Amino acid sequence: MQKIVLIPGDGIGSEITLSVKEILSAAQAPVEWVEHIAGQTALDQTGTPLPEATLEAIRTHKLALKGPLTTPVGTGFRSVNVALRQQFDLYANIRPARTLPGIDTPFRNVDMVIFRENTQGLYIGRENWVEEHEHAESIAVVTRKSSERIIRAAFEYAAQNGRKKVTLVHKANILKFTTGLFLEVGRSIAREFPSVMFEDLIVDNMAMQMVMRPERFDVIVTTNLFGDILSDLASGLVGGLGVTGAGNIGESAAIFEAVHGSAPDIAGQGKANPMAFLFSALMLLEYLGETKIAEQIRAAIYVVLQDHRDICTPDIGGQGSTSTFTEAICRLF
Ligand code: NAI
Ligand code: MG
Repeated sequence: MQKIVLIPGDGIGSEITLSVKEILSAAQAPVEWVEHIAGQTALDQTGTPLPEATLEAIRTHKLALKGPLTTPVGTGFRSVNVALRQQFDLYANIRPARTLPGIDTPFRNVDMVIFRENTQGLYIGRENWVEEHEHAESIAVVTRKSSERIIRAAFEYAAQNGRKKVTLVHKANILKFTTGLFLEVGRSIAREFPSVMFEDLIVDNMAMQMVMRPERFDVIVTTNLFGDILSDLASGLVGGLGVTGAGNIGESAAIFEAVHGSAPDIAGQGKANPMAFLFSALMLLEYLGETKIAEQIRAAIYVVLQDHRDICTPDIGGQGSTSTFTEAICRLF
């Protein structure tokens, strides 16, 4: 049994966590959960959004499955999600988006994997007032070293998984130093991988191309903010935030989570789609080498999507709930 830190999180977090625990247990996945708290839940219970006990558990077990954590907008504590990525140097945020059976969207044959640089860019939180409430500044940091490791991770993934192309997304026409450096590093690493095609696109054009011809994209690598935005866009192409999982990977730890947040608008109503969190758990199982169990659960999801879509959650056109979906999957084991 592999011990894994489980952070249920805020909002819909407890509902989707229960679902994923039930499904992995039905599938007899060899994992043992070590539960800890973070985010608003932890702030309310312990006075800090990121308790030392939670950090210590991740340090010990090196692997976590994390529910969504609420971050106050504008004021209040800084994002615990960003803090965890920085604390454990989880430099690669990997976010696949693949067309799913039975989900009605105008887009076909989407199968892309976004590699988002996860520790730098505008997300380092170095913001200050030049003049309070009149003039604010935010600093973006891009280093050669951090660019190299995320871009190399994208190329290695492409080469190992039979992917044909890496698209690097930037804004080097305007942000000539920061994203210009990222592009320069990309061009140089591309030469080490002659079997993988390479292209670069400016981010605004990329947003349009992803909607017009999403099937032309394969592996995408980009800086932190662009990756955050484009991965929500990619989720929208395949059925929304309820269906896309993600991993935050570093050298010494990995934390898996859904792309979505705590969805306060639907929390406690039984409407949360647990599929995104479940796909994140499957990425975790694959990371552990448990590919067979991950494939069996994926196959069960596809069966339910194709044959029992009515019992799925409303966000993907069903009339069911978190628990009817969960029960339908568990029945297949
Ligand atoms: P959100 O992702 O929570 O919700 C956006 C929309 O998608 C909402 O209409 C929501 O109902 C829907 N949605 C999201 N997940 C769903 C699911 N599993 N099933 C069905 N519908 C789903 O984004 P929002 O509202 O901008 O953020 C809410 C909070 O979450 C904020 O505090 C934000 O900071 C935090 N957040 C946390 C993340 C994390 O823990 N990694 C990521 C993104 C946001
Ligand atoms: Mg986001």
